[in-house]
Amino acid sequence: TANGQDFKVADLSLAAFGRKEITLAEHEMPGLMAIRKEYAEAQPLAGARVTGSLHMTVQTAVLIETLVALGAEVRWASCNIFSTQDHAAAAIAVGPNGTPDNPQGVPVFAWKGESLQEYWWCTEQALTWPNSPTGGPNMILDDGGDATLLVHKGVEYEKAGKVPSVDTAESDEHRAILELLTRTVAEAPQKWTRLASEIRGVTEETTTGVHRLYEMHRDGDLLFPAINVNDAVTKSKFDNKYGCRHSLVDGINRATDVLIGGKTAVVCGYGDVGKGCAESLRGQGARVIITEIDPICALQAAMDGYQVTTLDEVVETADIFVTTTGNKDIIMASDMARMKHQAIVGNIGHFDNEIDMAGLAKLDGIVKDEVKPQVHTWTHPDGKVLIVLSEGRLLNLGNATGHPSFVMSNSFADQTLAQIELFTKPEEYPTDVYVLPKHLDEKVARLHLDALGVKLTTLRPEQAAYIGVEVEGPYKPDHYRY
Ligand code: NAI
Repeated sequence: TANGQDFKVADLSLAAFGRKEITLAEHEMPGLMAIRKEYAEAQPLAGARVTGSLHMTVQTAVLIETLVALGAEVRWASCNIFSTQDHAAAAIAVGPNGTPDNPQGVPVFAWKGESLQEYWWCTEQALTWPNSPTGGPNMILDDGGDATLLVHKGVEYEKAGKVPSVDTAESDEHRAILELLTRTVAEAPQKWTRLASEIRGVTEETTTGVHRLYEMHRDGDLLFPAINVNDAVTKSKFDNKYGCRHSLVDGINRATDVLIGGKTAVVCGYGDVGKGCAESLRGQGARVIITEIDPICALQAAMDGYQVTTLDEVVETADIFVTTTGNKDIIMASDMARMKHQAIVGNIGHFDNEIDMAGLAKLDGIVKDEVKPQVHTWTHPDGKVLIVLSEGRLLNLGNATGHPSFVMSNSFADQTLAQIELFTKPEEYPTDVYVLPKHLDEKVARLHLDALGVKLTTLRPEQAAYIGVEVEGPYKPDHYRY
């Protein structure tokens, strides 16, 4: 808690502005608003204590208030140091009925531009429940898996009886986690073990977090069940693709205002995010080049009309570079040393290890300068300047405001239904990683049709029987790829 108040945001006086944007967003989030209406009476999340770790934006505010409308208590942190919209965080802390002098909202710990130490402190605050029997939540809603990671690391070190020395840290981020856990293990023994014991499950938003969950489950380390929200069709085939199609160029434009038309842009990775990014840059008139390691995605990119080649071939000639792989070490310092004067380099994948920022900082004679927050020039000794966005962290949230409401209404409707599933039917979900049942996926899509004036054709019973489905769905087998 900060200053006796159970939240910490940048500036409460931004709450009125945040509330206005939340009200506008609600209209653009028909899925969440329909779910509020449908479950208003049943209150399926009554008794749920949800800890959320997800970009604290205007759209997330509508998600948080949906969880509350369904009966949940909520505590929140952002899942990235640059992604919070301070007016949205202020509005959530104040709440729809409070004032900046008398805040009555949800405990939120998030501001734009946190240090790594502050980031992990915020995550800890979101996981620490003053009035709960275990001191913790009974549900987690995660994006990238950091809340889940902190609980699992805490339990692991408590079991081992000690936290590894901070001197063994492999990165600044790792050091911040070890420092935090060293403190909690000393101050509050068994905090994480006690807290984990009552967690019914986690619903995970993104590709990278889901990847972590499957690894933990494979290694036998997963402590509670998980729903992989990312692989709901109405999430990854919409948010990752159409969301990035909107927010990638938004980020580049706000950061640099460079004319994209006519430039050569390299997109590393042609998965869901890469497909949206490539289309977005092509839509602005850029000549887009793809790099891939997967022959299927490489062939898709070629069939979609893009040149597919290696970074090495084009690193000296392209103008804009975007990493979308969820993998590490995609653009190294040695690559950046070969780029053109005023080339733009950014990442839209979840973590900041796609671009070798540490290596860049170590280049002999390199000088970093801030143009404005989240936009830096890196001047090489020969005078060549690179423009790096959001210090290598996801640029659509660092330099712009992330995905727009309508697409997030799909992702967050999936999240809400996944929370209801895990919280209300624990016996159906023993510890494992699940995807959302297909009828719920189809339901989320259905909730968004009216707003776009879509008229759906209804199957006739004979037709349904002929293709072997029910008239009301699900319409596709689980292995169908869309
Ligand atoms: P994906 O798995 O569909 O796509 C990643 C692609 O990168 C794959 O096709 C893979 O073959 C390729 N790849 C891997 N290593 C590569 C390398 N060395 N060079 C070239 N290509 C390589 O994953 P998805 O869903 O597209 O997500 C990508 C990342 O973006 C994840 O970290 C995810 O969490 C994040 N994400 C970010 C969002 C944002 O708003 N910034 C939204 C959604 C996802």
